[in-house]
Amino acid sequence: MKAKKGLEGVIADESAISKVIPEKSSLIYRGYSAEELAKNSSFLAVVYLLWKGELPSKEALSKFINQEKQARKTDKRILNTIKECAQGHPMDVLRTAISMAGALEESHWDDSDAILEKKAIYLLANIPLWMAAHNRFRKKLPVIEHSQDQPFVENFFHLYFDKIPQKEVLSAFSSSLILYAEHGFNASTFTARVITSTTSDIYSAVVGAIGSLKGPLHGGANEQVMYMMKEIGEPEKAKEWMLKALKEKRKIMGFGHRVYKKGDSRVPQMFACAKTMAEVTHNTKWIEMYNILRDTMLEQKQIYPNLDFPAGPAYYMMGFDIDMFTPLFVMSRISGWVAHIMEQRKNNRIIRPLCEYTGPRERPLPQGL
Ligand code: COA
Repeated sequence: MKAKKGLEGVIADESAISKVIPEKSSLIYRGYSAEELAKNSSFLAVVYLLWKGELPSKEALSKFINQEKQARKTDKRILNTIKECAQGHPMDVLRTAISMAGALEESHWDDSDAILEKKAIYLLANIPLWMAAHNRFRKKLPVIEHSQDQPFVENFFHLYFDKIPQKEVLSAFSSSLILYAEHGFNASTFTARVITSTTSDIYSAVVGAIGSLKGPLHGGANEQVMYMMKEIGEPEKAKEWMLKALKEKRKIMGFGHRVYKKGDSRVPQMFACAKTMAEVTHNTKWIEMYNILRDTMLEQKQIYPNLDFPAGPAYYMMGFDIDMFTPLFVMSRISGWVAHIMEQRKNNRIIRPLCEYTGPRERPLPQGL
């Protein structure tokens, strides 16, 4: 049996949560177009859809929104830990905060459906609080007390920036969260499923998923994209930069995808978010640079941008520090991970593949050991 490097093309299990349709460059969440949801729905309605399989009724959504608000908590022990490691990378700090929340969890081994959902809502509600607290600790700014009144996105901006931006920014951000929410058996989701398949707990699965997402070949690419664009500096230098980088056989962050070969379905809407931010900030520099980099890459290598390419400048123009971009991805993708954790638990079999052995043949131990 031959190994499939990177498990390319391997169907590892069934899932009813989302489907990437590479031929049409499209993506559906429970049957609905992710792009349409990103244009017309709210992030919490999409979380509900991913977890429960159907879009919520008005009453169900309002109950779910309320559950999220009620789940926001100030836990001094977690905040102190975040403060202690405030100089660390935000992905490491967030991973540590979630790991600590798991260690403090009273119903550690109880993952009945109701308790699992309670833990999931707790993570959904508190990840933004922990990220905002980290941002404020490391800038030596006072941490803002959360409210249980503000909607999810407004609450996050308030805690992070001490300011709620205009509605175009809120809606671009919400749209970005919907686009980042779920994407099949990507590396971090698969990590979460592998951990869940051993009947381990949700915190362990999410901590593992964060470790996987952090890598620049996966979620970490949205940060690297912006470092690259800052390194280039000006749109006029973009073409020359790209040609040189390709000549040097560099991997260009924000381009390419294992599944999509003719373009990532989420890019047009995320690009629209970046364009909104360019209008709001009256600065088209990053959009101009984006277009040149995209066109040069397509012309030279026929490789399309992925979601992380437009996400980088979009989040930068919203005012987030570059190393916070991948935690923003976590804030959203927790929804997809949880949906997969729930699905894996419902029809579980431990994930335990084989490897193709390439070591020495079986041989006797040396004499005199
Ligand atoms: N820059 C330059 N060349 C790239 C590239 C990129 N971003 N992405 C793919 N390629 C090239 C590869 O070098 C390879 O060329 P070769 O056949 O001459 O060796 C070819 O395209 C096929 O790519 P491959 O490495 O097989 O793709 P993969 O499925 O193993 O990896 C990614 C997919 C996403 C990891 C890869 O495209 C990548 O590293 N992209 C940059 C990181 C990134 O943006 N990640 C976010 C993903 S959403």
